[in-house]
Parts: sequence; C-alpha cells; structure tokens
Amino acid sequence: MVYATIKIYEILAGDLAQFGQKDFIELDNHNPPSLLILNTNLAQLILKNEVLHPDFISYWKFINNKDNQSYPAIEEYFKKTPLSLFGQDHLESRKMISNYYKLIENNLDNWIHDYTISFFSSLDSSLLHDPTSVSRSFISGVFRKLIEEELECDFNSLPELPGDLFHLFPSAHTLDAYNQKLALLLSFIEEQLTFRGKDIQDTWAIVSTAVMGSEPLYASLVFGILIDTENDELLTTEAIFNKTNPISIIQRIVAQDFVIDNYNFKKKQLLYTSPFISRMLDSENNGKDNYISPFGYGIHVCPGKKISFMIVDAFFNALKKRKNIIFDKNKISFKRDFFLRPIKNDYEI
Ligand code: HEM
Repeated sequence: MVYATIKIYEILAGDLAQFGQKDFIELDNHNPPSLLILNTNLAQLILKNEVLHPDFISYWKFINNKDNQSYPAIEEYFKKTPLSLFGQDHLESRKMISNYYKLIENNLDNWIHDYTISFFSSLDSSLLHDPTSVSRSFISGVFRKLIEEELECDFNSLPELPGDLFHLFPSAHTLDAYNQKLALLLSFIEEQLTFRGKDIQDTWAIVSTAVMGSEPLYASLVFGILIDTENDELLTTEAIFNKTNPISIIQRIVAQDFVIDNYNFKKKQLLYTSPFISRMLDSENNGKDNYISPFGYGIHVCPGKKISFMIVDAFFNALKKRKNIIFDKNKISFKRDFFLRPIKNDYEI
C-alpha cells in the first residue's frame, strides 16, 4: 500500500500524457494489485457501484504501521457521515446530511455576503497579501461562523477547527492531532445542541461541513486568486471549477469479489480513480463532462456543491469590489495529494 501511495504521488506530479491509452495502471505487485483506473467508462461504473466505498481509516493506519492504534473521533465520524458507508447505511446518512445542508444553504444566504464584505474590510490595503493566509483565514472564519449560526450563539469558546486530514500519507502525528481537535469540537457541539434542546444527530452534519469542505474550498480560493487570465480579471466560480479539480484522487475499497465490464475485482482490492487525470488527458472537454466534475460522480457525489458555490461566489464577488487588495503571487505553487494543496516557499501549508 505504501508503494502504491508513493506511485500515485509520482504519477500526479509527472507527465500524465504517457498513460493516455491505458485502461488502468497497476500501482503495486500485491495480489490483487491496487489499481489506478484511467478508462473513463470503467471509472464511472466503479463510482456508481453501491458496495464500493472509501476506507480511509484502515488505509491511513496501515501506511503508518499503526493497525492497532485507535482514532476514536475520526472513526466515529466516518461511521456517521456518508463517505465511508455503503448500502442502506449510506442512503440513510446521506439523506440526513442532505436535508440538513438544505437548511444550511438557506441560512448561509442571510449572512455570507455581509460576513465576506466585513472580512475584506478588515484587511489592510497597504499590505501585499499572501493568498494562502487570506484564503485559509476566510475559510476557517466561514466555518466557525456557520457553526455559530447553526447553534444560534456567538462562541468565544468554540474549539479550534481540526485542519487538514485528507492526505495520501498523513503522519501518525497529523492523525493524532486531528483526532484530538475533532473530539473537542464534537463534544462541544453535542453539549450545545443538548443545552438548546436540539437533536444531537445534527452534530455530524454541522461538523462535516468543515471536515469535508475546508481543504477543497481553501485550494479553490488560492487557485482562483493565482490563476492568470488574459485581462487579469478574476474568474467566476463556475470558470474556476471548470479549470480544476480540487480533489485529485477518489479511493474505493472492494467489499466483495465482483465483475464489471469483464474486469474481475477482488475483495479488499484498492481502486483509485482520478477525474483530475481524466480532465488533463481530455483538455478539449473544458470540464464539461459529468465524470470530470470537481464535485464527483455516482453514489458519493458531493452534497456540499451548492454551499461551496455560495462560499466561493461570495469571496470573489467581494474581492472584485476591493481592487486595492493586492496579493503576492510569487513563491506559491501547488502539489497534488488526495487534494490540490497550495505550497508556500517549498513548505507545505
Ligand atoms: C470545492 C469544494 C468541494 C469539492 C471540490 C468537493 C468534492 C467532493 C467529491 C469529489 C466528493 C466525492 C468523493 C468520493 O466519491 O469519494 C465529495 C463528497 C462529499 N462532500 Fe464535497 N466537495 C467540496 C465541498 C464540500 C463541502 C463544503 C461540503 C459540506 C458542506 C461537502 C460535503 C461532502 C460530503 C458529506 C461528501 C460525501 C458524500 C457521500 O459519501 O455520499 N463537500 N465532495
């Protein structure tokens, strides 16, 4: 698995065109091998399959040699929210979360514009701003405010949001630190919901916004600030998402042996698909194919798309009106991990 992980890093950083004609790439010599699926039809069938799902916890424990370690908050999170679930459990969790996201969308519309305007007003226009820290602080501010709005209260005591989780190779330290912060946040929100006589199941939907949304939204904002356009104008949200996939790799574990399209997949085999690589191999398409949508495809397609559009729209609409906010666009590049990661001065941030 470690070998497969290193190979994926290499593939993402290398010349993708060389793989154009292949249906899949074997990522290791295990029996059965982990596969990176390149054939778009096959990738679509995989993402539509109801029993395939990501299994981040076992994967992260395995690559860190920590099979016996427990990360209770992260493990509980993946049992309650839809990403790692399949069948009836997935349907129920997805229904719960999608219903709650509709309420969040309505509420977000009431405050996101004012919040964004005051965020930009607080930036000193005489400074040359760093795109990564402005984007990071905007996204974490939005999620803090979203949690406060959902709990109908201002909290100085709201615990710190957990940060980044979805690395191909998160260190044991990253997992520990994330687990501790997530545990504090979950128990704080549960307490507050209980105190207000609300349903504590809402905890999972509320916390999932920051867990699932922080990393891709942060990358989208930095990408939108840095991208050079002919007239040096900022792109629309739609154009940003037509140009990049903040999520590079989608993982699935095979729960039981099965056959799709003459391919035999074996129990416990790891499959990776990459709408990002497909987009690169098909540059003509300009992001218009459903499969290469940044918000995913099939059973686990992103239920946070509307919320994401609202947040990115608010950011760039307010920025367009603040022409005196200037960014230092040097020394920032991107690394492809599970997610697109902005890198500053050669250090990952
Ligand atoms: C630029 C922003 C975002 C992008 C590009 C994005 C992309 C994706 C993708 C590709 C998936 C499918 C993963 C898979 O098939 O394994 C997904 C799933 C998911 N996303 Fe997003 N997402 C974004 C923001 C958000 C936000 C803000 C939220 C919450 C409000 C969210 C909540 C979720 C959830 C809960 C799932 C799992 C759905 C399921 O398993 O049925 N996402 N996202």
